Amino acid sequence: MSLKGKTAIITGGSRGIGKACAIYLAKQGADIVFNYSNNSSMAEETADEIKNLGVKVQAVKADVKSSQDIDYLFNQALENFNSIDILVNNAGITRDTLLIRMKEEDWDTVLDINLKGVYLTCKAAAKHMMKKRQGRIINISSVVGITGNPGQANYAASKAGIIGFSKSIAKELAPRGILVNVVAPGFIDTDMTSVLGEKVKDNILSQIPLGRYGSPEDVAKLVTFLASDDNQYITGQVINIDGGMLM
Ligand SMILES: NC(=O)c1ccc[n+]([C@@H]2O[C@H](COP(=O)([O-])OP(=O)(O)OC[C@H]3O[C@@H](n4cnc5c(N)ncnc54)[C@H](OP(=O)(O)O)[C@@H]3O)[C@@H](O)[C@H]2O)c1
Repeated sequence: MSLKGKTAIITGGSRGIGKACAIYLAKQGADIVFNYSNNSSMAEETADEIKNLGVKVQAVKADVKSSQDIDYLFNQALENFNSIDILVNNAGITRDTLLIRMKEEDWDTVLDINLKGVYLTCKAAAKHMMKKRQGRIINISSVVGITGNPGQANYAASKAGIIGFSKSIAKELAPRGILVNVVAPGFIDTDMTSVLGEKVKDNILSQIPLGRYGSPEDVAKLVTFLASDDNQYITGQVINIDGGMLM
């Protein structure tokens, strides 16, 4: 599978699952543009790692919930790489708390970053991909968007929203040769999950038939396949990657 000559945009590519996706796509030869929110030093480290793989790379500080920032991100990508072939919507946050304690701001921030961000980037990418009559969009949801989870009503709503949104645009964009899929990870070992207590983690582990947490690389390999020309006939699907947690 070669992605030579293609450009991929990965949101939240500085660390965790997004970083692994950027590295796997780069290993197949894709040039990489990724954005991040705050952590510039980590973004620079990741950009250096990707550059060492022999592809072009640009890290852009851009908040996915801001339409101005997304315009800037896509303008940078088009100016410097002149094509956008792959979009991986990975940036996401949690603000976990029970419904009765959930502040309006906890709701708005999670929905704005996790769901509105996906709308903004997909719209920007689609404009370009429609002209080229080809493209691959992969949106990262979560098994929680399918099952729900106490303490994560805002997060689960955003991740369920990604599924309905992606299926709708998969139908809209299929006639233009653009394939849109959703990847729904289970428990993946990253900064996002490192904050959970040992008891919670042990409980999750006991529900995973394969007996281990997922790694960012597990997710990246699936994303890279869906982004490649090897995928010609999968669109509008939600693919769980969870060690068998949900079956
Ligand atoms: N880890 C899991 O178990 C798991 C399971 C299911 C789904 N997911 C989903 O997978 C995705 C990645 O998760 P992760 O665990 O790798 O997260 P992570 O380690 O916390 O990394 C999050 C990334 O998103 C960026 N980001 C956060 N808010 C942003 C914003 N407003 N604008 C632009 N970038 C932003 C961060 O940039 P900075 O470095 O600048 O903060 C960072 O690069 C998320 O959508 C998450 O919901 C994760």
